[in-house]
Amino acid sequence: MKPVRQPPWLLPAVSLGVSLLVLFLAAVPVTHAHDITHILAKHPQFSTFNHYLTLTHLAREINSRLTITVLALDNSAMSAVLDKHLSVGSLKNLLSLHILVDYFGTKKLHQIGDGTTLTSTMFQATGAAVGTSGYVNITNLKGGKVGFGAEDNGGTLDSVFVKSIAEIPYNISVLQISKALSSAEAEAPMPGPSDFNLTTILRKQGCEAFANLIVESGGDKTFEENIEGGLTVFCPGDTTLGAFAPKYKNLTKSQKLSLLLYHGVPVYQSMQMLRSNNGLMNTLATNGANKYDFTVQNC
Ligand SMILES: *[C@@H]1O[C@H](CO)[C@@H](O)[C@H](O)[C@H]1NC(C)=O
Ligand SMILES: *[C@@H]1O[C@H](CO)[C@@H](O)[C@H](O)[C@H]1NC(C)=O
Ligand SMILES: *[C@@H]1O[C@H](CO)[C@@H](O)[C@H](O)[C@H]1NC(C)=O
Ligand SMILES: *[C@@H]1O[C@H](CO)[C@@H](O)[C@H](O)[C@H]1NC(C)=O
Repeated sequence: MKPVRQPPWLLPAVSLGVSLLVLFLAAVPVTHAHDITHILAKHPQFSTFNHYLTLTHLAREINSRLTITVLALDNSAMSAVLDKHLSVGSLKNLLSLHILVDYFGTKKLHQIGDGTTLTSTMFQATGAAVGTSGYVNITNLKGGKVGFGAEDNGGTLDSVFVKSIAEIPYNISVLQISKALSSAEAEAPMPGPSDFNLTTILRKQGCEAFANLIVESGGDKTFEENIEGGLTVFCPGDTTLGAFAPKYKNLTKSQKLSLLLYHGVPVYQSMQMLRSNNGLMNTLATNGANKYDFTVQNC
């Protein structure tokens, strides 16, 4: 394995960013205790749903989570979804709204405190959702029915609990619901890679200062060129960057550019994927002579 060389001026900002990441990763154990594809494969009436979980890489995300609930749609419910002719990106958003990042077994579902709750979903967790869209409203209705609706759906609970398919407390629960949740936000057309504006996204997510530096340094072009093939950006928040500003000002132009590019990895890595990866990663600042790689370590 090639040694990781970091020029000394990179250390203050970068080791902070990377060690924060490592601490965060260490808090969540790597787990492959369940396999949603395998669970659903036993139920042919969910084959379409299962197929699209794999196609959108959501299956992998589900498997790497420790506490998760999947609201499964049978083939006829999925056929209504497919009739909407969503792009794969929008379909992924819509399906990720059906993945609750909490554990709801049948029992808990029928005993919700105050009879109603909003729960966070993987759509919300990806940062693609704005505001409260990305939350799902679960409400105990009359006669023991349980209703589900997307929070941004004007209070309509358009789907109800049908049956439990699999429950492995408190790792994964797979529950069938009658039809797909509808959410304007999740179903909105996704920008194609070519009109995906990275600086706008960074600004929205609390990395305005970092976005400004990227544009000032001309590094935005390198980031943008890598979007099509997949890109992961570790963006330092405005406070972190503010504290580092005096040191940053002292760097030469090319040192500044390398430092910024060091925060980009030219492959798509979700937080979940990072948790199940160890080893050396290339960054956008990596080039033959001067290697600015970093190591991901899950503890
Ligand atoms: C739940 O996940 C944990 C952590 O991976 C694992 O140790 C445990 O065996 C799992 N429980 C079941 C019932 O599979
Ligand atoms: C969920 O939706 C129902 C029906 O619109 C509403 O009465 C309830 O207040 C909502 N629950 C929450 C927690 O927002
Ligand atoms: C992204 O948006 C900013 C500000 O709105 C604009 O200056 C920049 O040119 C845009 N970048 C691309 C690649 O469209
Ligand atoms: C920036 O450089 C100046 C001149 O070399 C030096 O006096 C100052 O301490 C440096 N500031 C930081 C924060 O490194």
